[in-house]
Amino acid sequence: MFGRCSRSFARPFQLRQRSFANAARAVPESFHKNVPRAGTLAAATAVGAAALMTAHASQKKESNCSWFGGASKGNFKVCVCGASGGIGQPLSLLMATDPNVAELSVYDLSMAMVPPAGVAADLGHLEKRVKVKGYVKSVDERAIDKLGECLSGCDLVLVPAGMPRKPGQTRDDLFKINADIAKEVVEACAKYCPNAIVALIVNPVNSVVPAMAELYKKKGLDPTKIVGVTTLDCVRANKFVGELTGADPDEIDVPVIGGHAGVTIMPVFSQDKHARKIPEADIPALDKHVQDAGTDVVNAKNGKGSATLSMAYAGARLGKAVLAGLNGTPTTECAYVMSTVMPDVPYFTSKVTFGKAGVQKVHPIGKLNSYEQTRLEEAVKALKTEIQSGVDYASKNSLA
Ligand code: NAD
Ligand code: LMR
Repeated sequence: MFGRCSRSFARPFQLRQRSFANAARAVPESFHKNVPRAGTLAAATAVGAAALMTAHASQKKESNCSWFGGASKGNFKVCVCGASGGIGQPLSLLMATDPNVAELSVYDLSMAMVPPAGVAADLGHLEKRVKVKGYVKSVDERAIDKLGECLSGCDLVLVPAGMPRKPGQTRDDLFKINADIAKEVVEACAKYCPNAIVALIVNPVNSVVPAMAELYKKKGLDPTKIVGVTTLDCVRANKFVGELTGADPDEIDVPVIGGHAGVTIMPVFSQDKHARKIPEADIPALDKHVQDAGTDVVNAKNGKGSATLSMAYAGARLGKAVLAGLNGTPTTECAYVMSTVMPDVPYFTSKVTFGKAGVQKVHPIGKLNSYEQTRLEEAVKALKTEIQSGVDYASKNSLA
C-alpha cells in the first residue's frame, strides 16, 4: 500500500520491516550513471561534496525509490527560501538531485552570503534534468511583490529562511524576528502557490508553525498545507540509538513526537525494535541527548550558527517524502502539523502520511510505556504555551 523512497531521506515507517531483496534485484543500469565522478567531487565545495556523497551513498543502500526506476519521475516545482544560507545551500543541492524535481527556485535576500543567482548557476551544472533559477529581493522590498515567477506553480516550498541561535539563546528567543520572516514568505505562498506544501524549518518551529497555519486559516486557505520540519530529531534519535546498541542506524526507526524544542522533543524509544532493548536506566540520558542535540551543535559552532548539514539532510528527507506522496506513493514521516491526536493540543508532531494532496493522515501516537507517559505530560505542558504564542501572533497579524 505504501511506497518507499530512498531510505535515508524518506523512510516510511510502514515499509521499514520489508525486505530489501526485491529492490536489490531491480537495480537498473541507470544507477551506475548516478555514481559521482571524481571531477565533479573535486570541483565541489566541501559542504557540497559531503552532501552529494551522502545522497549517493543513500541511493546505493536504498534501492526501491524512483532513483532506481521503481516509480515514475514526478514533474514537481520546488522552492527553497533562504537558499543561500547554511541549510539552504546543501538543502537545495539535495533537492536538485531528487528525480521528482523538474524545477527548483532558489530564493534569498540580496544581502545574503552568496547571491541566489550564484547558487542557481552552480546547481545548474548538475547532470540532472532539473532547471534551477535564482530569485532575489532586498530587505526593503516585499516578497509578495517579487516572488510571482519564483513561487507560481510550486508544489513544495522549503523554508530555512531565518536567524539561527547563538550559544545561550533558546529557540523561543528567535520567535519575533523569525515569525516576521516566515510571514512574508507564507504571504507570498498564499498568493502564488496556495496549494503547495509549505515546509517550515525556521525556528521556533513550535510557535512559527501554529502562527502560519492560523494565518492561512484566517485567509480561508488550508492550514494543513503548513508543515513543521522535525525530521532532524528522528535522524538524531536513530543515530544515537545506533551508537549505543551497535545496530545499523538504517535499521532503526525511533518516532520522535511532540514538538521541536527542549522537553517537547519526545523520542518514543519503546516503539523501535533496537531501542526497546536499551536498559531502562539508560533511557533518561539518551532522551536528554536527543533533546539537547541542537544546543550541542550550537555550542560546538561557537556563535557561527546551528545545525546546517544534518538539517539539510533531514529537510531533504522530509521534502522527498512529500514529493513521493504527491507523486502517488504515500510516504510517512514524523512532522509537526495541525492535529487532533492529543486532546487540547492543536499542533503536534506524530507520524504523518503524505499523499497526492499533501497531508493524508495524521497518525495517533501509539502505545507508550510509563516513562514515556510521564514525558508526554511534560511535553504537552510546554507545547501548549509555545502554541499559544503562535496563535496570539496570528490573531494580531493577517496575510495581505
Ligand atoms: P543562515 O543564517 O545560515 O541562513 C538563513 C538564510 O535565510 C540566509 O541566507 C538569509 O539571508 C535568509 N533570510 C533571512 N531573512 C530572509 C527573508 N526575509 N527572506 C528570505 N531569506 C531570508 O541560517 P541557517 O543555519 O540556515 O538556519 C535557518 C533557520 O533554520 C534558523 O531559524 C534555524 O534556527 C532553523 N533550524 C531549524 C532546524 C529544525 O530542525 N527545524 C534545524 C536547524 C536550524
Ligand atoms: C536544531 O535542533 O539543531 C535546530 O533547531 C537548531 C537549534 O537552534 O538548535
